[in-house]
Amino acid sequence: MPTLTVPLAQRSYPIIIEPGLLARVGAHLRQAGLHHQVAVVTQPPVAASHGARLRAGLEDAGITPLVIEVPDGEASKSLAQASRLYDLLLQARFERGATLLAFGGGVVGDLTGFVAATYLRGIAFVQVPTTLLAQVDSSVGGKTAVNHELGKNLIGAFYQPRAVYIDPQTLRSLPPREYRAGLAEVVKCGFIADAGLVGYLEQEMNAVREQAPEALERMIQASCRIKAEVVGADEEDRTGRRAILNYGHTLAHAIEAVCHYEEYRHGEAVAIGMVCAARLSEEVLGCPGNLGERTLALLSALGLPTRCAGLSPARLLEAMALDKKVQHGRLRFVLLPRVGAAKLVGDVPTELVRRAIPV
Ligand code: NAD
Ligand code: GLY
Repeated sequence: MPTLTVPLAQRSYPIIIEPGLLARVGAHLRQAGLHHQVAVVTQPPVAASHGARLRAGLEDAGITPLVIEVPDGEASKSLAQASRLYDLLLQARFERGATLLAFGGGVVGDLTGFVAATYLRGIAFVQVPTTLLAQVDSSVGGKTAVNHELGKNLIGAFYQPRAVYIDPQTLRSLPPREYRAGLAEVVKCGFIADAGLVGYLEQEMNAVREQAPEALERMIQASCRIKAEVVGADEEDRTGRRAILNYGHTLAHAIEAVCHYEEYRHGEAVAIGMVCAARLSEEVLGCPGNLGERTLALLSALGLPTRCAGLSPARLLEAMALDKKVQHGRLRFVLLPRVGAAKLVGDVPTELVRRAIPV
């Protein structure tokens, strides 16, 4: 499979997508000069299912890694875990030429990236994502963060990895609910930038649901290509271009906050958020093609939730008002003028939003 590149001048980096790649990560690290001291930061389910294969490849390349497991779950994106990692790295005398390898889902990727950005004022890190969400979204683009008691991702840095190594075969052990949650981000990529991808998902539904290798390849490639292009154009989310990756996220973040990050996986909340954003795209921008109905049909067929029954629209609107996408007190939404194109729209009337929330 061809290698993609995130185009950031001297900080450009490759995204390699290849079945079986896990066993060859060690060789890639050596080739890239990232083999001197390597720490693998991972989660217990990932270590149990895939740790041995990664480790064997590293050892074949002459790398004996320090392996650090963090407890499973969002709570590991914390300053306390970051501090524990600093301690372990310092005790093992990791130097500035060292490399951190994030081996797991988005939790491990965001935490490891944050530690890499700050340890000794910044050391190299690479991403080896193992959830679909991480393979199509969080491992690319350099948003690293830990959570604060006042909110998610409030402490962080833009800090790009040196490479992203994606082995779709690692998804075989992923719980089905996590897989479906990742699909929501693929659907998002299609709606904002690739009408052909939306058509593919609709037509090849069975292959997508069954994780057929060609479907995984198509979805991961297309999503990473879009993310690489967007990040290359607006690395630090300053011009509105990168903001399009937040299609469906205005309501999603509110749902997650109102439910204390417990009831819905992020991708599930994004699915519900896309139903709302699709309705608003029709109302505000006149998006053609029955976008609302098409969105509902696709997400339902993929087994994703399409409404947030039982949640109060008033509480969701309150939570939206606190979102990062609020500017000067006005609600901003990413909306679609047509399938495959997106733009940030400021000042969407609250009453329209209230009616578009699928409860
Ligand atoms: P996660 O890292 O918690 O992984 C979900 C679950 O899957 C965990 O239990 C994990 O141990 C397990 N798992 C991972 N890979 C597995 C495998 N191959 N087989 C079996 N089990 C496996 O969650 P996630 O959904 O990957 O990531 C969510 C996080 O990503 C959130 O913290 C979110 O804020 C962050 N995120 C970051 C960005 C970004 O741009 N940096 C973008 C989107 C989301
Ligand atoms: N996941 C949104 C972004 O990376 O900007």
